[in-house]
Formats: sequence, C-alpha cells, structure tokens
Amino acid sequence: MNNQPPPDWDPKSNEVRRDQRAAYDEMRRRCPVAHSEFMGWSLFRHTDVNRALNDHETYSNAVSQHLSVPNGMDPPEHTAYRRIIEPYFSPERMTAFEPVCRAIVAKLMLDVSARGEVEFMADAALPFAEQVQCAFLNWPTALHGRLANWTRKNHAATLAQDRQALSEIAREFEELIDELIETRMQAGTDPKTDLTAALMSEQVWGRPLSNEEVASILRNWTVGEIDTISASVGILAEYLAGHSELQVQLRSQPGLIPPATEEILRLHGPLVMNRRVTTRSVEIGGKKIGAGERITLNWISANRDESVFDEPDKFRLDRDPAKNLLYGAGIHYCPGAPLARLEMRVFLEELLARTHEIATVPEQSSTIAVYPASGFATLPLRIR
Ligand code: HEM
Repeated sequence: MNNQPPPDWDPKSNEVRRDQRAAYDEMRRRCPVAHSEFMGWSLFRHTDVNRALNDHETYSNAVSQHLSVPNGMDPPEHTAYRRIIEPYFSPERMTAFEPVCRAIVAKLMLDVSARGEVEFMADAALPFAEQVQCAFLNWPTALHGRLANWTRKNHAATLAQDRQALSEIAREFEELIDELIETRMQAGTDPKTDLTAALMSEQVWGRPLSNEEVASILRNWTVGEIDTISASVGILAEYLAGHSELQVQLRSQPGLIPPATEEILRLHGPLVMNRRVTTRSVEIGGKKIGAGERITLNWISANRDESVFDEPDKFRLDRDPAKNLLYGAGIHYCPGAPLARLEMRVFLEELLARTHEIATVPEQSSTIAVYPASGFATLPLRIR
C-alpha cells in the first residue's frame, strides 16, 4: 500500500519549468508545505526553512548513501570536517587570491567588450566560474572543458533522478581527483603553495584524509562554486542590464556593490534547494510529517517571502542582511561564502569599471534555466 499523500504539485511540470521563481512564489501562497514524489516535502516559507536550518537534530543532512563531505553529514562527523574546511576560506587566503581572481576577470572582460554582443552565460559566466575555481585549487587550465562537461552531465542526471548515472558521474569526478592527487604525490607538491596538496595532508580522527574524502570535499566545492557562481553572475548582469540607473550608482559608488549583490540574489536566488530528512515526526504548516521523510528547503522562495521582506519584489539596500538566506544558516552555513563574495565583488567591479553600458539585445530574449539550475540558460547582452 502506498502511504504517500497525493501530490500537492509537480516540480517538473511545464509551468514550473517556464519560470520556477514565479511558480515557487505561487506555491508559497497556495501550499507552503507541499508534497511531491520528486522533492518530498518542499518548504517554501522563510519561517519553516529557518526552523529546519536551526534544528539539525530533527532535520538531518544524512540524505544519501553516498559520501558527501561535509554537506551530507550531521554532528559529530560534520563538525570534524568543517574544522578542516573553514580555514581554506580565511580572510588571509581571500586577500592572497584577490589579484588572481581580478586577472581572470580582466582577461575575460577584454574579450567580452571587444565583441560587443555576447551570450553572457557561455561567453562570460561559465568560463569565469570554471577558471576561477581551477585557479583557486591550482588545477590545470586544461581541466576547464572537462569540468563544464561534468557539470552539464550532473545536471541532466539530477533532473532525471538517474541514480546509476549519478553514481557514474561521481566516480568520474573521483577519477579526475585521483589523477590530480597522483600528480601531486609524484611531484611532491608543496602544500603551502597548492591548495589541493594542502587538503591531501589534512588529518581527521587522527588519521590522514582518504582519497575518497578529499575527492568528496573537492566535489562539494566544485559543485558549490561552478553552479552557483555562474548562475549568480548571470543574474547580476541581467539585473544590471534592466536597471541602468543602478549601473550608474554602482560605478560611482563601488562600495555599494556587496550589499547590492546580496539584494539582487535575494530577489532571484542562484541556488534552488538543499535536502534534509526528518529524524522524528513533525508538524509544519499544519501538515503532519513522519520520521524518515524527505524535505527540501526552497531557498529561492524563502528569500522572497512577503511575511519577512516588505515589498519582496523591490530592490532595497536597507534590508536586514541577517534575514537573507542566500548562504543558508545554522551549522551548514556556506563555508565558501567569503570566496563567493570575493568573486562576485571583483567580477562586478571590473565589469562596471571597464564598460559604460550593459544592456539587453533588442529582439533577442534570454531563456530561464530549469531546475536544478537557476538564473538563465542563455543571456544575450550588449556590453561596451
Ligand atoms: C553565490 C554562491 C554560493 C551560494 C549562493 C551558496 C549557497 C550555499 C547554501 C545555501 C548552503 C547551505 C546548504 C544547506 O544548508 O544544506 C551552502 C553550503 C555549502 N557551500 Fe555554498 N554557496 C555558494 C558558493 C560556494 C562556494 C564558492 C563554495 C566552495 C568553493 C561553496 C561550498 C559549500 C559547501 C562545502 C557547503 C556545505 C557546508 C556544510 O554542509 O557544512 N559554496 N552553500
């Protein structure tokens, strides 16, 4: 007998695919705790998402059989691995990485402004996310295309819920990491100058990290970075193209770039959701949910919740940053946030300083990305 309730919505329907942000707004108003076969229980309200984030004992991250360091873990394992990871995003590391990041953007911008009209996602957003990630990890530039290909396959398999393909894709990534580890072992690479080698020399529970753990950490960083950063810079560029007055303001007051970035990404979230599983029965929004049920936290919707953000569709720089769930909250709060903030700040500083116009291209419309991606699939822009 099937004990599942009838579905409240279909996350794969054409309506959701057409404009997922609008569809999630609609769900938040119509059925804020909604069941579907594909996503389990989706939480659309800020208050419900926040409650799950701050109660990791009831809402566990152990959602998958596959090793996922640290996102698929609960304390005490999670705590031990977070301790290893966080120093890689320290202020000192960020300061040292800034000039490298700026040089990557400067080179990309030369190409973009020389062409005048670009398909921003393929010509700027994705190359930026890949190049900056490879530079951060000290990976060879020859990997750029391979990473892009891997990300594409990962999206397709996630959408199709193809477990076999997902396992193969995870294995493929592990092989790629094994090659990088092998090269470093043979060369005796110095952990002081190579972040991947530094990770290989870390200890957990009094023993060295296994290759599988190193691969999982790097996979989490790579997925964390490439998808969200490319989606984010696309969303930022599209917003600026539609708001020339904001371009003028940010060109004259570049100090406003960081808060403007967080507010634009609150309006249009680059990351759709993360998963949890209940460890006991709970009641959320009047729905009784048993132990062992799948939960999805919908970031895009939570950050547009009218009961927390007055006039949620309005860009405002005077909002309380503590309410913005862009990087999550609680023990799984994004450890890569300092890197993400650095990358987006440098990207926008260079983009705005090197151009005088970012505009849409008449008669060429953008296409919206579908889950599991967010933002734009294609984005024609005129940049000069
Ligand atoms: C705009 C860019 C980014 C956004 C919006 C973002 C957002 C998030 C959010 C909402 C979470 C919480 C997930 C949860 O509660 O289950 C998270 C976790 C995480 N993010 Fe990010 N992220 C971004 C960039 C990055 C970057 C650049 C990295 C690393 C290079 C990264 C690595 C991670 C990792 C490893 C976790 C898991 C943390 C844990 O479970 O303790 N993210 N991110």
